[in-house]
Amino acid sequence: MLRRAKISAVSHYVPEKVLTNHDLEQMVDTNDEWIQTRTGIRERRILEDGKATSDMAAEAVRKLCEQRGIDPLEIDLIIVGTITPDMFFPSTGNLVQDKVGAKNAWSYDVAAACSGFLFALSSGAQFITSGMHKKVVVVGADKMSAIVNYKDRNTCVLFGDAAGAVLLEPDEEDTGIIDFMLHTDGHGSESLQMKAGGSLYPATLRTVANDWHFIYQDGKQVFKFAVQRMADVSVKILEKHNYTGDDLKLFVPHQANLRIIDAAVKRLGISNDKVMINIGNYGNTTAATIPLALSEAYQEGRLDKNDLVLFATFGGGFTWGSSLLKWAMPKP
Ligand SMILES: CC(C)(COP(=O)(O)OP(=O)(O)OC[C@H]1O[C@@H](n2cnc3c(N)ncnc32)[C@H](O)[C@@H]1OP(=O)(O)O)[C@@H](O)C(=O)NCCC(=O)NCCS
Repeated sequence: MLRRAKISAVSHYVPEKVLTNHDLEQMVDTNDEWIQTRTGIRERRILEDGKATSDMAAEAVRKLCEQRGIDPLEIDLIIVGTITPDMFFPSTGNLVQDKVGAKNAWSYDVAAACSGFLFALSSGAQFITSGMHKKVVVVGADKMSAIVNYKDRNTCVLFGDAAGAVLLEPDEEDTGIIDFMLHTDGHGSESLQMKAGGSLYPATLRTVANDWHFIYQDGKQVFKFAVQRMADVSVKILEKHNYTGDDLKLFVPHQANLRIIDAAVKRLGISNDKVMINIGNYGNTTAATIPLALSEAYQEGRLDKNDLVLFATFGGGFTWGSSLLKWAMPKP
C-alpha cells in the first residue's frame, strides 16, 4: 500500500513592518470602514527594500527545522509556491536551498498564484507516497508589495507579504494527507494578472509607463468565480470521502476576502469556531495564506492528532482546489 505524506512540522515568517488601513488612507482615496466591510482586512505586513521572497521563505524553513529538530542537510527537496520569485531564474527554491544550507536537497518553484501552496503541497506529497523521498519541505511565500501599485486602490488594500512552510514525511499511523482536488481554468487569465515582464511583454519604457508590471484585477469577476469554486471544491472533497462539516475540526481557507470565506463556510454548514481566519492581520499573502493560517492555528492549540482538516483555495489563472488531511501532530 502507498504510504501517505503527513505534515510533521509547520512554521511561518511575517515581516515586522505593519501597513494599516489608516496608512493607506494617506496614500489612496480609501477608508478603513470600506476596506474592513468589503474585505475584512485591518492591516498587512510589508517586507523591507533589499529583501526578497527567498529571505522570508528561508526564515520559515529555518524555524521548521528547529521545530522538528532536524538539520537542513536532512532535507531531500524544497518546493516553493510563489508568483513573486526573487528573479526569473534561478528559482526561489534554489536560493532558499542555499540560504538555509540544505546542501543535499534539490528544489524548484510552482507558480499557481494564490493556489501556489496547495499545488506545491500536492507535488511534494507525491515524492513521499512514491517512496522517493523522506523529507520534503513545501513553502508558500510571496512579497506582494513588490508587484502591487500603491496608487491603485482596487488592489493595494488587499495584499501583504509573508511566508509559511510545512515539512512532509511518510506517515506511519493512519494520519496525513488523504486527498487533493485541484483545478485550473485558463479562461480566467485576463481577470487577474501581471501583464508585463515575461516573454510576451518584456520590460520596456512602454510597459513601465502603462503600469503593466503591477497586478491587474477585475475584482468583481474574480469574486464571482472565487465564491462559487472555493465553496464547491470544499464540499465535493468532503462528500467524496463520506464526511460532512460535522466531522471537520478545522477549515483553513485561502484568505483573500472575508466574504469569500463566509460563503464557503455557509455551504459547508459549519460554525465559525471551526474556521481559521487571520486575514484581518495580514491581508491576502497569496501563496502564503494557508501555511501561515495553519501555523498560527497549530500554535494556538487548535489542532490535535487525528483531527480532520480541510484546506481550500482560489487564485489567479484561475486556479483552485482543496485538500483533506488527518492532522498528525499532538498539540504543541
Ligand atoms: C476587490 C473587492 C474587495 C471589491 O469589492 P466589491 O464589493 O466587489 O466592490 P466593487 O468592485 O463593486 O466596487 C464598489 C465601489 O468601491 C470602489 N472601490 C474600490 N476599491 C476601493 C477602495 N480601496 N476604497 C474605497 N472604494 C473602493 C470602486 O471603485 C467602486 O466604486 P464605483 O461604484 O463608484 O465604481 C472584491 O471584488 C474582491 O474581493 N474580489 C476578489 C478579490 C480576490 O479574491 N483576489 C485575489 C484572488 S485570490
